[in-house]
Amino acid sequence: MTRLEKERIVGAAPGGARDQDSAARAVQEMFTSIAPRYDLLNHVLSFNIDRLWWRRAARRFEQILKRPGARVLDVCCGTGDMAFALWRRARSADVKILGADFSHAMLQRAAVKENRSAGAKTGQAPSLHWIEADALRLPFPDGHFDLVTSAFGFRNLADYDAGLREIARVLRPGGECGILDFGEPGGLIGEVYRVYFKRVLPKIGALISGVRGPYAYLPASVERFPPPEEMMTRMKQAGFAEASWTPYTFGIAGLYRGVKADRNIPLEEI
Ligand SMILES: C[S@@+](CC[C@H](N)C(=O)[O-])C[C@H]1O[C@@H](n2cnc3c(N)ncnc32)[C@H](O)[C@@H]1O
Repeated sequence: MTRLEKERIVGAAPGGARDQDSAARAVQEMFTSIAPRYDLLNHVLSFNIDRLWWRRAARRFEQILKRPGARVLDVCCGTGDMAFALWRRARSADVKILGADFSHAMLQRAAVKENRSAGAKTGQAPSLHWIEADALRLPFPDGHFDLVTSAFGFRNLADYDAGLREIARVLRPGGECGILDFGEPGGLIGEVYRVYFKRVLPKIGALISGVRGPYAYLPASVERFPPPEEMMTRMKQAGFAEASWTPYTFGIAGLYRGVKADRNIPLEEI
């Protein structure tokens, strides 16, 4: 890769990361370090609104989740809450849901939560599995999934375009993707929210997790993340025929939805 190509890459850059590989390693170490407290912190810091967001995102894909034999992948699944929300909507024994993450510690928590949930293991329920995998190098063939989701994980990828291309690659033509992530609300609500997000949240996060970096990185990573218009253009460039963004809770979060094209889209149509 030339220097110019490298400079054009847009993706997560935790403090101290020099290149894509060190950025990915820093992200992996960061989530592994907060895995034991991740769920608690999520719920405390979001005042439990995170549960509504996962549920609402899953509802958006109800049509796919009802389809017999549907194959669903949740990338950057962490401790599994998005995958569980999809699983609850699926309700058909032959829907397969896979959660993938590159942090073993996060996946372990997901598996523990699954074991605690009585319905997850019955033969009547859709299947749910966890796999340790890098979202930029997914171990699946082209066109394998009907739906690929990612909740609050995509923003942490070291190369957003490569992440979108990888999601598009594993989707079948006409398959859909849903990327749920934080946004930056405008107006007065935005101003109040930014004070909370940049000043209060990192302090509470550090206090509960006992680790300083991750909760300072969170607002910085949201600031770096492309705004909705740009993300939708990037989605189209990566092979999605349709791309839309629905704000959740005044735009504090939002859902990107993409439909994979069934042909290559010429640049002039993007
Ligand atoms: C903020 S957590 C989100 C977890 C979960 N989806 C949720 O909604 O709570 C981000 C997750 O993305 C994972 N992640 C980041 N980059 C990744 C990559 N390149 N491949 C796989 N997982 C990745 C991290 O390990 C972490 O578990």
